Parts: sequence; structure tokens; C-alpha cells
Amino acid sequence: MGLWAKRDDMVVHEADPYNAEPPRGALADGVLTPADAFYSRNHGPIPLLDASTWRLTVDGLVEHELSLSLAELQDRFEPRSLVATLQCAGNRRAGLIEVRDIPGEHPWGPCATSTAEWTGVALADVLTAAGMGSDAQHVAFSAPDVAPLADPVQPYGSSVPVRKAVSAEVLLAWAMNGQPLPPAHGAPVRVVVPGYIGARSVKWVDRVTAQREPSDSYFQATAYRLLPADAGPDAAVPGAGLSLGAVALNADFLRPDEGATLPPGLTEVTGYAFAGDDRGIARVDVSVDGGRNWVQADLDEQVSPWAWRHWRTTLDLTVGPVEVTARAWDTSAAAQPESPEHLWNPKGYVNNSWARIHVTVR
Ligand code: MTE
Repeated sequence: MGLWAKRDDMVVHEADPYNAEPPRGALADGVLTPADAFYSRNHGPIPLLDASTWRLTVDGLVEHELSLSLAELQDRFEPRSLVATLQCAGNRRAGLIEVRDIPGEHPWGPCATSTAEWTGVALADVLTAAGMGSDAQHVAFSAPDVAPLADPVQPYGSSVPVRKAVSAEVLLAWAMNGQPLPPAHGAPVRVVVPGYIGARSVKWVDRVTAQREPSDSYFQATAYRLLPADAGPDAAVPGAGLSLGAVALNADFLRPDEGATLPPGLTEVTGYAFAGDDRGIARVDVSVDGGRNWVQADLDEQVSPWAWRHWRTTLDLTVGPVEVTARAWDTSAAAQPESPEHLWNPKGYVNNSWARIHVTVR
């Protein structure tokens, strides 16, 4: 077994803080990702919190502040479960690094994304119990893990607009695939913001604050913002660039693996496709000639509006090197852009260009 109860073939970008993604094939077997294969993105050391003493403070623009133990959270509010995909804004950054280096950022491949059934309570119910005021515009989340690379060094934090915070899908979750959250995924309780970049799903959450402005945390105000390609090294200052919220349409291959050697003839090709917030996956196209001709893949069942869709098709491959390309379309008829060159940005977020794998058929 690898670090943090993960499978031992995780691609570990950094051991401490722990940052790792599974190999493609580990995500291919079902919609739900087993906890031991779920990618893990951490900005500081993983805290080991005691569930029996953990408390959640709810404060800010509320009529009555709350301080809830885990048992109170579980007893006072109706439990809910939903299947949701988390996807890091840095998913597929490696494709941008091939265009131009991005110093200081992990070269995530296509598997900084995973899907689980989350169980918890609706954040909306907790905010209602606290009597959130109509002047609240954002709901901020705080956690105790300290991120050494934040400027200044600070604990992790983030926020979402109030309209998202009060939607039924946003959970304060204590379980993942029917088991208590493991430490690496936020035990005892994390926020799950389905459809938004993973950075908003704050782990080890200990404070929820209703406020007028977005969080002034480094991770909301400075990081996880899309800067223009020509922004200089000093451009990442609070408020610069576009704040990332809903996940952009994206897709990649799960099987076969990049660099695989395959026999000639029929080969099944599978992958995932995901679009954040209120958009679904409408179609996935696959090409073996660089996008001149496409076949439409079969989409697996949509198990939840907040989950990725796996897709598959069978290709008849002939001997030689083959580049296989895929692109997804969402329910707003948007398609993935073709090339990472036009998407490059200094922090390496949102590479949603066409997926490509290179295989040898012999
Ligand atoms: N929450 C805390 N407290 N600290 C973190 O470093 N990383 C965020 C988010 N929540 C983070 C956090 C980011 S960037 C992502 S993509 C997701 O957690 C990853 O969640 P996972 O590790 O459960 O896959």
C-alpha cells in the first residue's frame, strides 16, 4: 500500500504535502472511484483531527452563531448522499507544460479528477439553522492545514457565491463511498461543492462564514485564478485574473494508456467526460486521423447530474503509430478547444484541449 492508504501505483507528484493521481486504468472500472485510487491534492501537511473533539463554527452574517460537534451535525440535519466528481483546476496541466514550462506547479496528468458518493448534510440546511442574513453574498470555508507556499503562509480557505452555497447539492460530508472520510480527503468533515473546481471543496473544514465579499484567503483571492498568457511573474496578486468556479468542459482517455502497444484489429477505447455546474455531457467524438474524421463514442449512463460520464468506442486499428484524439461536447453545444497552445496560462489551469494518446499497433 502507498502513502495515505493509497494504491502503490499512484503517480506521486510530491510526498509531503501529499499530491498524487492514480494511473488512468484505475479510474476506468466504474463511475465511482475507490478511496485508495482517488486523487489527492494538498497544499500543506494532512492534519489528523480527532472526530470526537472536532467542531464546526458557523458565523458571520447570521442571526445566531452555531458551534456543532460531528454528532450534532449528524443528528440535527437530514443526511443526504450524492455522487459527485471532483476535478482539480490543474488537471491535465502536463499538456500546458509541454507548450511552455510552468515552474513551481505540479505536472498533473489527466487523473486529477475522481468521483465518489458523498454523504453528509446540505450546507443550505445548516445556513438556514443559523439564520443567514439576506446581505450575505458569499459563504467562506476555513480549515486548519497550513500551506507553506501561500503568500503570506496561512491555513487553507476558500468561498463560493451564496447562490451556490444554498443549492441542495453542496454538502458538509463525513463519508465517501459509504465509509468515513479518510484523513487525506478531509476527515472528519469536508465541504463538497459539486460542479465547481476541487479547490472550493474545503477539507477538514472547521468554520463556515457568511459574508459580503469572497474569501480573502490566498486560495480564493490569488491562486485558482486564470491569468492572461502574457501576464508577468508578479501578476498573481489578490484580485488579478478570473476567479475559477464551475468546471470547464473536459475529457480524457482512461484506456488504453498513453504509450501502449496494441495488436492490430479491434480495440476498445474508454475515457471520462465532465462539465461543471448545470451543463451535462452531450456527445464525445473520437478520431484516429487528427480530427479529420470522427466517430461518436457510446456514453455510459448518467448516474448523477454532478458526475462525469464514462464513454467508450471500439476502433479498428491498423499497424503503425497511431494518435487517438477525443473531444467532448456539452449540453450548451460547447466543444473542447483543439489545442493547448491557445490555453496556456502562467499558473497552468483549465487545460481542456482535445485529449490525445499515442499508441503503437504491431
Ligand atoms: N482543503 C484543504 N483544507 N486543503 C487543501 O489543500 N485542496 C483543494 C481541495 N480542498 C485543499 C482542500 C484542492 S486544490 C482540491 S483539487 C481538492 O481539495 C482535492 O480533494 P481531494 O484531495 O479529496 O481529492
